[in-house]
Amino acid sequence: MKRFAFATVSTLAVVAGSSVLAGPQAEVLHWWTSGGEAKSVAVLQEEFASNGGTWTDMPVAGGGGDAAMTALRARVLSGNAPTAVQLKGPAIQEWYEEGVLADISSVAEAEGWADVLPASIAGHMMCEGAWCAAPVNVHRVDWIWANADILAANGIEMPTTWDEFNAAAVKLMDAGVIPLAHGGQSWQDATVFEAVLLGIGGPEFYQKALVDLDPEALTSDTMVQVFDQMRLMRGYVDENFSGRDWNLATAMVMNGEAAFQIMGDWAKGEFLAAGKTPSEDFLCASTPGDGYLYNVDSFAMFDVDGEDKKAGQDLLAKLIVAPNFQKVFNLNKGSIPARTDVALDDFDICANLSAEEMGSTSAAGSLLPSYAHGMALRGSQSGAITDVVTAHFNSDMSSADAVQQLADAVANSY
Ligand code: GAL
Repeated sequence: MKRFAFATVSTLAVVAGSSVLAGPQAEVLHWWTSGGEAKSVAVLQEEFASNGGTWTDMPVAGGGGDAAMTALRARVLSGNAPTAVQLKGPAIQEWYEEGVLADISSVAEAEGWADVLPASIAGHMMCEGAWCAAPVNVHRVDWIWANADILAANGIEMPTTWDEFNAAAVKLMDAGVIPLAHGGQSWQDATVFEAVLLGIGGPEFYQKALVDLDPEALTSDTMVQVFDQMRLMRGYVDENFSGRDWNLATAMVMNGEAAFQIMGDWAKGEFLAAGKTPSEDFLCASTPGDGYLYNVDSFAMFDVDGEDKKAGQDLLAKLIVAPNFQKVFNLNKGSIPARTDVALDDFDICANLSAEEMGSTSAAGSLLPSYAHGMALRGSQSGAITDVVTAHFNSDMSSADAVQQLADAVANSY
């Protein structure tokens, strides 16, 4: 009897166009499952709940999101898309072209997103003139993290050139310390590769090779040098690197088992979640060379039925870009706010460095999208490059062969 009465009232509410009774609902697919990531996404869950929303969590473990994207495809193909999905870069436009994304322009316009987001970030959130995603943050990818005590004990400064990095690595190996904490998963190999490529080739070369896919850049001597450095990097990792999750590699630096990690600033979220302090316990610096590789996390809303779900999408989109969430989430996540009007006074030295260099590289034309984190290329193309990078890293393939395979793989990926 009670049940029947409730169903009737809620049906009436939906008919009347109100979702007050059921409340905003959201099933959210994301891949934030490590310590720092889980702490960060909890901020959104709490804000959503305190605004009357009901959150159904759909976490899919796996750094970089490859597993999450496989799960997403299965859900969409079975006609049962989640309400909101962690999605970024050109994948947003690819899904939009499949006709399955919701238009969230009404929220974006009401909240004035165009006035508070840098144009470069806003561009990633637009699909054929409509807003189709909400940005959460700006992660920088080209970072090097270090255990402060290990560097001090071995008389090593943060490297500013790749030669310095190599010299430090040799010194560490001689002292019996693992120079580089790394997890042998293809997206982590790609993360190191793009930092090395930016450092050795410079921003213009990065743009040509990994954004424009210019065949000349892909087959150049510079690219040979990039693979030469990758071969050296392979020698700096421990024997058990294969398949290791990125946060376990971060833990190796934290615990003094390894000196360095090359990873985006979600690694800082791990250090912070473990109670570590920048400049004291761990050090941050951009990887050797110029430029800045950005990785903007965002959420896209999928086309779903039901006023309660649509209300959930609107609420989520609004909260994500609102100043309070942008501050608290990013303090935990290691990234910086996507909005330009959030004060960074409470942010640490690494975040302030990121914001400063995002500004200076933007002015210099060297603010570049991360290929490894899905910001630069469509999936088939970035996948083709990563396959070669990983195959090279895990074999004794020569640099010349890697360059040839890279050019072939890219040519076949269109
Ligand atoms: C990135 C994502 C980050 C972080 C990382 C490791 O692609 O943008 O937010 O989660 O993967 O999972």
